[in-house]
Amino acid sequence: PNARGIDLSDLRQLTQLSETMAEAASQSWQAGPLIGGQLPKRAADALAGDQAEAVRNPAHNDQIVGHVALADDDDVEAALATTHDAAPRWASTPAAERAACLRRYADLLESHLGELIAICTREAGKNVADGVAEVREAVDFCRYYAVQVEDEFATDHVLPGPTGERNTYGLYGRGVFVAICPWNFPLAIFSGQVAAALAAGNAVIAKPAEQTCLVGSRAIELMHEAGFPGDVLAFLPGAGDIGAKLVADSRIAGVAFTGSLATAKKINLTLAERDGPIIPLIAETGGQNAMIVDSSALIEQVVADIIRSGFQSAGQRCSALRVLYVQADIADTLIEMLSGAMAELSVGDPWNLGTDVTPVIDAEARDNLAAYAEYADQTFKAHYTCELGEAHTNGTYIAPRIYELDSISQLGDEQFGPIVHIIRFKADEIDRVVDDINGLGYGLTFGIHSRIDTTVERVLKRLKVGNAYVNRNIIGAVVGVHPFGGEGLSGTGPKAGGPHYLHRFATERAVSRDT
Ligand code: NAD
Ligand code: ALA
Repeated sequence: PNARGIDLSDLRQLTQLSETMAEAASQSWQAGPLIGGQLPKRAADALAGDQAEAVRNPAHNDQIVGHVALADDDDVEAALATTHDAAPRWASTPAAERAACLRRYADLLESHLGELIAICTREAGKNVADGVAEVREAVDFCRYYAVQVEDEFATDHVLPGPTGERNTYGLYGRGVFVAICPWNFPLAIFSGQVAAALAAGNAVIAKPAEQTCLVGSRAIELMHEAGFPGDVLAFLPGAGDIGAKLVADSRIAGVAFTGSLATAKKINLTLAERDGPIIPLIAETGGQNAMIVDSSALIEQVVADIIRSGFQSAGQRCSALRVLYVQADIADTLIEMLSGAMAELSVGDPWNLGTDVTPVIDAEARDNLAAYAEYADQTFKAHYTCELGEAHTNGTYIAPRIYELDSISQLGDEQFGPIVHIIRFKADEIDRVVDDINGLGYGLTFGIHSRIDTTVERVLKRLKVGNAYVNRNIIGAVVGVHPFGGEGLSGTGPKAGGPHYLHRFATERAVSRDT
């Protein structure tokens, strides 16, 4: 079963959570490289002195919530050497033991719920509901992969063959996997990537996004506590240059990456050009996710689903809604109702339970989105922009907004924030609309709101997309329920939280014996 999380409408549970979060937030958190289970001396000195990077709260930029000693070249070399030595031992560790570590980590995540949500809130700007979902998803990944490891990796599978021949095939760890992670799911995706690689029998070097090293560091500490050995699992907090060095090294056996398309392409190029074996790249990237709404849709539900899909997590989800196609007959009504609903959104501090829309991750993201909004204000029809007040100037906030475009050809790159573009279409144009969406080349999430079954089936058949949602919102995929991941420019597959994910982290060996 999937993790239950907690019920935020239950006063007793909520009070308990608030107390743990407040207690955790009274500390100043620290993170540094972890190699062989140890913090290198240089990093320890940096954290003890004033050499470490300050981590600021996205909601209150003057508030320092912790410090990070970033990894350097010596740490990269030490992590590669240590994990490379340890990899064969971990590959031959019984699958049941690896599964037990995953389950213990899942239990530890649940018993540290309040602390983990507090770090996600203070460092990544997650609101409390998103924080609960982070922990639940991380727990689900671990328990789901634990079952798969036991079912599929524990013993070799017997295959058919002629009399006198015994044939088997088995799944084994490849060596050292590098996990390069994004900041927008600093616990869930980070844990999912790292846990999958470990489960399949690989040693792992985990590289969190530079914006969320504190969350990543706490996750790694709990993984070590759960029994994953220090020399099998290294942690290198740092920026893209650390990731680039790791993927260029011939000692690694695979890369699991989640982040932007631009970075995925760079990694692909490095892997193609470096010395050493040809190795797998599992890349999950962005999208230009669309939703089609026809005139048979239930408009109140559509509005609620647009609000959730476009603005929850401040639009900083790869799955978030970017382009809304609305049948012309209902477009004016829908835009008016959507604007009304947007006026009710509370944009503010993630720590407050009533906050719907949080700040974006940092000043760079805020400035990029603000520059895009300035361009969009002049180029498109601006329908509604939420108000920001004095209180927002201290954090990296961007007001949710909706624009109307004449055509999809005006859409540029993925804007990773609370911005939704609207395009009108006529009833007989639906095939062309789907072709336009496919023509963008992405293929992550998609939604259709229609009560006409033949329209829904026709669209689903024509569409190239990893995750399609019918008459609902398009975010919040659940492990084992909505295996998640895209195609085309959105990713290589396989799907996280799906039945084939672990296979890509493993090597398959077939043995044929003459008996
Ligand atoms: P990003 O590509 O800037 O960074 C992702 C990671 O790659 C970070 O750890 C970063 O330090 C590292 N990196 C940067 N340059 C590198 C290089 N040259 N070599 C190796 N590593 C490098 O992406 P981001 O801004 O952190 O994340 C947002 C993006 O991630 C969006 O495009 C979003 O759609 C996508 N995303 C996709 C999924 C999915 O499952 N498909 C999930 C979450 C986010
Ligand atoms: N799995 C995340 C979602 O579906 C990205 O929103």
